[in-house]
Order: sequence, then C-alpha cells, then structure tokens
Amino acid sequence: MKQEISRVDPPAKQGPVEAEERILIRGGKKLKGTVRVSGAKNSVLKIMAAALLVKGVSVLKNVPNLTDVHMMAEVLRHLGAVVTISEGEVEIDATNVQDFEAPYELVSQLRASFNVLGPLLARFHQAKVSLPGGCAIGERRIDLHEKGLKQLGAEMHIDHGYVYASCKKLVGTRIYLEKPSNGATENIMLAAVLAEGTTIIENAAQEPEITNLADFVNAVGGKISGAGTYTITIDGVKPEDLHGATVETIPDRCEAGTFIYACMATGGEITIEGANPHHLYSVINKAQEMGAEISILAPGTIKVKADGKMKPIDITTVPYPGFPTDLQAPIMSVVACSEGTSIITETIYENRFMQVAELRRMGADIALTGNAAVVKGVPKLMGAEVKASDLRAAAALIVAGLAADGVTEITGLHHLDRGYEKLEDKFRALGADIWRR
Ligand code: EPU
Repeated sequence: MKQEISRVDPPAKQGPVEAEERILIRGGKKLKGTVRVSGAKNSVLKIMAAALLVKGVSVLKNVPNLTDVHMMAEVLRHLGAVVTISEGEVEIDATNVQDFEAPYELVSQLRASFNVLGPLLARFHQAKVSLPGGCAIGERRIDLHEKGLKQLGAEMHIDHGYVYASCKKLVGTRIYLEKPSNGATENIMLAAVLAEGTTIIENAAQEPEITNLADFVNAVGGKISGAGTYTITIDGVKPEDLHGATVETIPDRCEAGTFIYACMATGGEITIEGANPHHLYSVINKAQEMGAEISILAPGTIKVKADGKMKPIDITTVPYPGFPTDLQAPIMSVVACSEGTSIITETIYENRFMQVAELRRMGADIALTGNAAVVKGVPKLMGAEVKASDLRAAAALIVAGLAADGVTEITGLHHLDRGYEKLEDKFRALGADIWRR
C-alpha cells in the first residue's frame, strides 16, 4: 500500500506563486559574515531517482528543502515508493515499487524526473516516461539518452508524448556519447547497473554530481568506477545484490558560486562554509582573474574578499570542469557593474540569456550577438522591477539587485525556490537589505 509521509513541509512558496509575491532588495550594502551552503539540488534529484533500483531503504543526508525535491518525491510516490522527507534528509523505500510509468503532469514540472527512465528500465525491463516538454533555456534533447539505452539492448519509441522503453534484458557494451550530457550519462549509467556484463561510457559527463550518484550506487551494492572522469565503467550486478544504504549529498557548487559572485558585485568580505573548493576551480579562477581575493581557509571553507571594482573578463561556458552554464547568469550581473567590456559566450544552451533583458532594465549595457553577450560595465546598476525567467536568472537578478542603487523588485520566484534554499535569508544574514513579501 502506498504511504505518503512528509515530515517537512515544502518551502511555503511551492508551485506557481501569487502574482504579487516578490523579493525586494535595497542594494548597495557590502556583504559581510559567514554563510553555509546547502546540499546540491542536481545531486539529490538524481540519487532519488536511482533509489528506484533498490529493494530497500535509501537514505540521503544533507538534502536542501527545495520545491524540486518535493516534486521528485511526488514522482517516486506515484511509482509506489514510500518517501519521507525530514529536516535535511530524505528516506526512500522503493521495495514495493510496481509501477513503471511517470506521467506528464509530474515530469513536465521537473525535467530531472526524466532520470527515472534508466532505473525503471533496469529494474522492470520496461518504462513509460513522459517527454519533459518545453524549457525556458533551450531545446534540451534526449537523443543521447535514447541512443545509449538502445545500445544496451532497449527498444524505444516515442508515442503521444511518451518515451516507451522495454527489453528482454540489458547487456553491457561500450557507448560513446557525442556530447558529455549529464542526463544521458546518468540514465545510461543507472540502466547499466543491472545489465549483464560490463558497460563503458566514453565521453561521459564529469560533473561532481555524477560522482556523487556513482558513490550512491556503489554504496547500495552496484559496481561503478571512473565516475568523474571521461570514462565510466559499470559492471552489472544482480537485483538481489542491491540493498539500502545511507549517503551524503555533496555541497551545491552553484549556490557557493552565487555567494562568491554576489560578494564581488557588492564588495565585502564573506566566509562560505560547507562548500567543496575542488568543485569550484573554474569559478574561483574567474573570480581571481577579476580581482577578488579568494582563500581556502580549511576543507570546505572559502573566504572571499572584494572591493567592488572588478576587472572585465571573457568567459565561455563548457562542461565540467570548465566554467558552468549554471553560473553564467550570476557572473553576468557582476561584469555588468565592473570596469571595461566583458564577453560571455554560452555554448551549452541555445537560449540562456533570458536575464539580459531584465538586466538592461536595471541599466546594464549588454549587446547580444549569436551565443555571445558583450557586456560593457556601467558604474552602477539601478534598482528596477524585474522578472526571473528561470532558476539561474533569478539568482542573477538577486546578485544585480544587491549591487544596484535603490530598490529592486523581483518576481517569478517559483523558479528561485526550485533550486536555492532560503536564499534571501542567507543574504540577509550577510547584511543585505533583502526581504520577501
Ligand atoms: N543534449 C543533447 N541530447 C541529449 C541530452 C542533452 O543534445 O540527449 C544537450 C542539451 O540540449 C544541452 C547539453 O546537451 O544543450 C547539456 O545537457 P545535459 O544533458 O548535460 O543537461 P541536463 O542533464 O538536462 C543538467 C542540470 C542543468 C545543467 C546541465 C549542464 C540537472 C537537473 N540539471 O541538465 O541544471 O545546466 O546539466 O550542466 O542536473 C539548473 O540547475 O539550473 C540546470 C538547468
């Protein structure tokens, strides 16, 4: 019987928020103090999906209270898992999962739920998962997921908006990914956990979230090596080899990067705790190039000092370990009020400059040519009413608002609440004049 227990309520602002809800920022305060980074959204969501492989109880620690986490819990419950969310922790008992269909009304709200495809196919040899549908930042195809799973032996077709996958069995093979897609690496890796023989993924995504996912799989009895590198090897195991386990979610590198860039935009001195500097080399490198002083005080603790007068830079977003697309918008807010002209080139998504029109409302001087943004720094951004179009655009507008003269009002907050835990509270604790109403 399905049970639905949640000991922690979703963030109050789950789902589309009331039109009048907004974050207000009176900009110009230098950030000062200490802030703690939450667990990584993009790790938690994938590990939750992977828990479907296991007849047993999987426990995830260091889990942020985000609407996306609650949404993924709904997807798993729909499939028959018992999911309990409590303070900083998610417990998933997938023992009695019998359903293998993830419907449109759930998947369309959370793209990461497409990641149930691989585990369902592995465990039940069939899956029916809705195509996620439109997205504000780009096309976000699934062809690489499809090609990889087919190479493992799945038959797949798309019908009336659903991906149907089935197989008699999955058999390990060598798969070369044309692009190091995170989602495709994850779906193929998870399907291969219960395949016969060995699967090798070449040109795999190398993101820390992939490593965290592989660590989970290994903790529950799977055999994955090489995660975090170009080549991932998965030795198939039997379903009965898998068992429950407890794992810790890695720190959210996007959140840590957002704090670094906010401090650079306002000037100030902050200490970021609970981060993993090893996941942030490209992010820190750009900050230093712009003139910020960054020091690693202790494992997990990053100190940022900036005088608010940053130098221009050129940035190109590339897969990890290169500069992350997810911090392209937040750093654009910094260069928008830095000295000189910066060029930001976006190579991951076709449409990830949605923040530009809003930053222009705040006085930014940005010209778009193809996939590049030419940003001429202005002495001061000005507070304005702006609307977030996606999660990272929301973060960018907050960074801009913190640095701007006057009051910035940001709407579209349901995007923010998907991926940042209590961001305005954390900035308020750093001395920012920021509140939600
Ligand atoms: N792509 C294909 N074919 C595929 C799969 C991907 O062409 O079959 C393309 C995509 O269209 C995109 C690129 O490859 O242009 C990268 O896509 P990837 O599969 O790596 O992205 P994802 O798994 O859908 C995750 C994060 C994103 C993050 C990207 C890139 C989650 C839930 N999402 O998406 O995070 O931007 O990797 O690092 O993990 C966010 O957190 O704001 C966010 C959008």
